[in-house]
Amino acid sequence: MAVAQSLSHVFPLGSRVDERGRLEVGGCDAIELAAEFGTPAYIVAEDDLRTRARAFKTAIRDCGQDDFQVTFAAKAFPCTAVMSLFAQEGLGCDVASAGELHLALRAGFAPSAVVVHGNARGEAELGGAVAAGVGLVVIDNMDDIDRLERLGAEQRVLIRVTPGVRGVTHEKISTGQADSKFGLGPSDVLLAIERLRRVAGVELAGLHMHIGSQLFDVGPFREAIAVLAGLGDFPVYDLGGGLGVAYRTNQRPPSIEDFVAGLVGAAHDQLGRGRRLLIEPGRSLVANGVVTLYTVESVKRNVSTWVGVDGGMSDNLRPMLYNAEYEAEIADRFGGSTRCHVTGKHCESGDVIVRDAVLDDPRPGDILVTPATGAYGYAMANNYNGVPRPPVIFCKDGGARAVVRRETLEDLHVRDV
Ligand code: LLP
Repeated sequence: MAVAQSLSHVFPLGSRVDERGRLEVGGCDAIELAAEFGTPAYIVAEDDLRTRARAFKTAIRDCGQDDFQVTFAAKAFPCTAVMSLFAQEGLGCDVASAGELHLALRAGFAPSAVVVHGNARGEAELGGAVAAGVGLVVIDNMDDIDRLERLGAEQRVLIRVTPGVRGVTHEKISTGQADSKFGLGPSDVLLAIERLRRVAGVELAGLHMHIGSQLFDVGPFREAIAVLAGLGDFPVYDLGGGLGVAYRTNQRPPSIEDFVAGLVGAAHDQLGRGRRLLIEPGRSLVANGVVTLYTVESVKRNVSTWVGVDGGMSDNLRPMLYNAEYEAEIADRFGGSTRCHVTGKHCESGDVIVRDAVLDDPRPGDILVTPATGAYGYAMANNYNGVPRPPVIFCKDGGARAVVRRETLEDLHVRDV
């Protein structure tokens, strides 16, 4: 007789395959979710996100660091309900634009808990953030300082340091190298510090770094912190985001606990204790708490087997942009031996969501699931080929609710004038 099985670490915490062989997320049956809300849909296990938020806070406290803020990088999943959840959990919010700031304030973050980024923002965008009373503005370039001066802003700021360190990740999401569009190199940081001394009202609280994303090794963080340590002594350090996640079962990123211990340990060693520490996780808070459900629409065999689903690069651009690898399963028949490529419905050969998936004899009408789609999926969703964007469904203890509705065809022309 079949028994329920828990799933690999790629799936949301608490997910399982039930006695009937059907995927359950947040206590909800995936096949029933697909019937109720349609596909494609982003399915969020609410408790998974809360558990990870709490894990970051506990891990930092366990390092003996009481003065800190875990700052959710909103860009990873800029959905009001997700942001509200993290606001409720006592996190701060990192925003990278006026739009993300707008969402953060709507979601209930105190302005003082918001950290504002941007490498190319105009006076209106920067002025809007200052007027909203945000806690910290991160200065990315000398032009930001000119702007703050012209604005006559009263504002606490950090300077973003480009430490000249490269983490092991896809080049498009590596940011700490010297030749980066983000931040200022060490010698320019010293000039910026000098410059800021002469700008009335602007208080330099400390330094920021963010060396890249989807990183598994804490070594480059340690190297980068050493660079910050050489630039003076400040009350606040923001060490950015970057902790990687498992998209596939064979990937083993560090746990939140181990990563935080390495990072905070490096900060204590090199910056000293008694500083306020901020971190800005995005991906590691949301990636694995979410799965996407699709419906299989076509199965074609030529040289390969092509399994076409009702979404694709409009709901998950990551395989196309970063060659990101995902897993797929049929939601009520895990396992199997049919080697195939899971493709989207878009008019491009590159619209392949999972290359070399192994599924159980996929056929039209099957519900297909791709795990670990919470980070930068919804965030980078688009309407290519006039495909409406999927809804976001929160699941908890067997109850499901839409927190973002599916886009309609009318939404596609709502901005027409
Ligand atoms: N802080 C700053 C200043 C950042 O630029 C980022 C991400 C984060 C924090 C959060 O990093 P995380 O913890 O998520 O690694 N679209 C790409 C990822 C771009 C990351 C941009 N910055 C992807 O889908 O992989």
